[in-house]
Amino acid sequence: MTWSGKEERKPAGRMAGETVDPAQVPKRRLYTGAEIPAVGLGTFGSDKYGAAEIAEAVYGAVSCGYRLIDCASVYQNEKEIGGALERLFREKAVTREELFVTGKVWNDMHGEGQVEISCRKSLADLGLEYLDLYLIHWPFPNYHAPGCDGDARNPDSRPFSAEEYLGVWRQCERLVEQGLVRHIGMSNMTIPKLEAVLGQCRIPPAAIEMELHPGFQQPELFRYVTERGIVPIGYCPIGSPSRPERDRTPEDVADTQMPEILEIAAAHQVHPAVVCIKWAVQNGQIPIPFSVKPQQYLENLRCTVQDPLTGEEMEKIRRADRNCRLVKGQVFLWPGAGGWEDLWDPDGPESVPQA
Ligand SMILES: NC(=O)c1ccc[n+]([C@@H]2O[C@H](COP(=O)([O-])OP(=O)(O)OC[C@H]3O[C@@H](n4cnc5c(N)ncnc54)[C@H](OP(=O)(O)O)[C@@H]3O)[C@@H](O)[C@H]2O)c1
Repeated sequence: MTWSGKEERKPAGRMAGETVDPAQVPKRRLYTGAEIPAVGLGTFGSDKYGAAEIAEAVYGAVSCGYRLIDCASVYQNEKEIGGALERLFREKAVTREELFVTGKVWNDMHGEGQVEISCRKSLADLGLEYLDLYLIHWPFPNYHAPGCDGDARNPDSRPFSAEEYLGVWRQCERLVEQGLVRHIGMSNMTIPKLEAVLGQCRIPPAAIEMELHPGFQQPELFRYVTERGIVPIGYCPIGSPSRPERDRTPEDVADTQMPEILEIAAAHQVHPAVVCIKWAVQNGQIPIPFSVKPQQYLENLRCTVQDPLTGEEMEKIRRADRNCRLVKGQVFLWPGAGGWEDLWDPDGPESVPQA
């Protein structure tokens, strides 16, 4: 395939039967010793793709060699994904043990007893007996209706509380003890928030999901988590080009149009999205690119086993960081908060109350 800025792709029909040997796909090791594939499939449809289409992509992606699937109850498609998994198991395309399935508890299920209810619902919908990883999706109990406007504010929203968060974490720890989940982790955290809670986790987080792409590399947070043996999972690895309009601002940088990425893509004759995935895997995070298009999800997997970026190219991308956060989280702001930056603790650890 060549990449010249125009779509020059094989029709999906010719993709049938193309696979990547899962054994060849790089892996990371969690602190428990368990292996996790170094690339996975995202399942958030961004209001653009429906549950049935995403479930079909899960079926196609696992058939072509994916073993890591990133799910969440708030994506409202776990039941359909469960149907795809059931089909894969029935057809003996894969066994449960070969898969690594992530789930997440949504902000409206943080109350005492609710995390287990939410986890059991995800398990029932997905048709699984356990999840490999279960994350607290956001570190606030701040709920917003799916698809609501970016300016919407819930009057019940409140700032981060380490004490409340640890209450949710204790519930996650119980899920491990009950055998409902193998590992637990966090998402959308900052160093100040981690400083406030990590010392009090009985079961430490195995992985942390965070926004990571060439235009937003979060080097300090990345270093902080990896130095503590926590595996970073990078969401929006391609810069989420299909995200909803309400989540865009004029300052946003499009990773697939960054000159450094375009130049490297031309050198490797691949789509710029593929450069983002190669960079992510070689940099050490686990990217979870979303796609329902067989050509795209196959190349996102295949690119991890061939034609790596050079050290010079990796360095060029490192220097290209624009510190441009795309998922700002403004719908989680509480009444009286300033801008979306307040969600990300720009004033350091002192601004976060300890438990
Ligand atoms: N923990 C959290 O709070 C959180 C937040 C956000 C996302 N996530 C997870 O991270 C996943 C990924 O993030 P995302 O879906 O926002 O963004 P993304 O993976 O950065 O971007 C996905 C889009 O990139 C395009 N794309 C994918 N592969 C491509 C290829 N090979 N060539 C060209 N274009 C390609 C597709 O656009 P088209 O559809 O236009 O073809 C696709 O819809 C989500 O699905 C979700 O599982 C987690």
